[in-house]
Amino acid sequence: HPTDTPRTADVLVVGSGIAGCAAALAAARNDEDVLLVTKASEPEDASSDWAQGGIATTRGDPKSLKADIIEASADVADPDAVDVLVENAAAAVNDVLIETLGVEFDTRDGEYDFAQEAAHSEDRILHVDAATGQHVLRPFLSHLDAVDNVEIVESTTALELLRHEGRVHGALLDTEPDGEPVFAGATILATGGIGDCFEQSTNPTGSTGDGIAMAFLAGAAVDDMEYVQFHPTAADIEEPFLLSEAVRGEGGILRNAAGERFMPEYHPDAELAPRDVVARAVQDEIDATGGVTLDIAPLGDPFDEAFPNLAEKCVDHGIDPGDGIPVAPCEHFLCGGVDVDDHGRTSLDRLYAVGECAHTGVHGANRLASTSLLEGLVWGLRAGQDAAGFTPEEIEYQRLQNSDPALPDRFAGEKFHRLTRVVSEELGLRRTSGGIDSARGILRRLKGEVDAYTRTRTSRGLYELRNATVVAILIANAAADNNESIGCHYLVDGATAENGSTAAATNGD
Ligand code: SIN
Repeated sequence: HPTDTPRTADVLVVGSGIAGCAAALAAARNDEDVLLVTKASEPEDASSDWAQGGIATTRGDPKSLKADIIEASADVADPDAVDVLVENAAAAVNDVLIETLGVEFDTRDGEYDFAQEAAHSEDRILHVDAATGQHVLRPFLSHLDAVDNVEIVESTTALELLRHEGRVHGALLDTEPDGEPVFAGATILATGGIGDCFEQSTNPTGSTGDGIAMAFLAGAAVDDMEYVQFHPTAADIEEPFLLSEAVRGEGGILRNAAGERFMPEYHPDAELAPRDVVARAVQDEIDATGGVTLDIAPLGDPFDEAFPNLAEKCVDHGIDPGDGIPVAPCEHFLCGGVDVDDHGRTSLDRLYAVGECAHTGVHGANRLASTSLLEGLVWGLRAGQDAAGFTPEEIEYQRLQNSDPALPDRFAGEKFHRLTRVVSEELGLRRTSGGIDSARGILRRLKGEVDAYTRTRTSRGLYELRNATVVAILIANAAADNNESIGCHYLVDGATAENGSTAAATNGD
């Protein structure tokens, strides 16, 4: 390996979604040299690009958005964190998205066309079609491309953090077989979600929880890992795609295989109940009747005019939306993650986490629709600003071993299969205490096997497997530690409490 001058950056950002871009922008505005690495071969290949519904705004009074976020979170959200989100929302959207990037959100009669989504008490979602993510992320990446002090490097991932005595000094990248060090004044993780831990997910492939695993292995605190959100309406096909909450917001109705509308029996807000409630109801009806469809007939505008990108996707997959779109719940978002404060600071010095890999406390036990791009934007900007001003320092570190690069990818494929099966079966929409315990055992054994390889070999596939295994164990452990059935952590063998939530029997299985 080269022993000449190692790579340095004032700020190293790992991940190219909205949170990573916002962090890079804010750090660059503070005259920092930013290196943004992404494992995608195209930087826009990030979860943010797939976001459909839009961006929740405060429309004047932040209190109402705050109340909705907390209610949807099953009262688990941290009110102080929610304040940070809602109080900074308007400025972040105006300054960055509208003024800097020139995003043209949809309008109607000359005004912003604020949309409705589940569990929102008013129409407040800014959107572009139902493809908001790509209309935000692509201009963001183009903008950063033209900023002199930001370098974006594709097809590059971080394998380990470089840590010395509680401070993080950068990361080892996979650009050399034994890991290439980048020494950074501050390191910002923006690696997105954990969809690859499940057999099906609405996330892009490669969502292996890398930032969470690396931070945890370096000693950072993680929190709320049991709250894995399932979206109620993904197309019920082998490779599901999302059918935005906005479709129900515009009047779409859920029907079971008998053609009956069922949501009013489950919740007074029917199709617009909180996401966890709708997701479980959809699964119950699939189990009871054999299927659920999303009926687009009640929409005010024709489906292909209101949601052209979704209409096109249906056609591409041989679905005629007029017949009702077959839907099922699908893993969508992790509400927990690396624990951070109101500036994205983790428990390790000079390590930040933003976006889905972070736990800010905003989402509690169940995230409100269209708050994830906003959270990534607000915390990304705050972290990027806070991370400015530290000088990169070279530290002694251990190079990774790489004795046989050919073997691990084959090995990883087989183990990944075992991982996704147990996680989907035991740590999904419905859980039992016995299933959680059994998952813990299987995952621990898997981790033992994976560790034996990561000690001697490097490959991206192997590290992704390690990261997904670490994340799955964190979910299983958090699920085992929380015997209250609440929000996305739904325990089938829990007892119903008087307030209508459920609590697991404390004597376990
Ligand atoms: C959707 O469009 O339904 C997804 C929005 C979100 O996950 O917040």
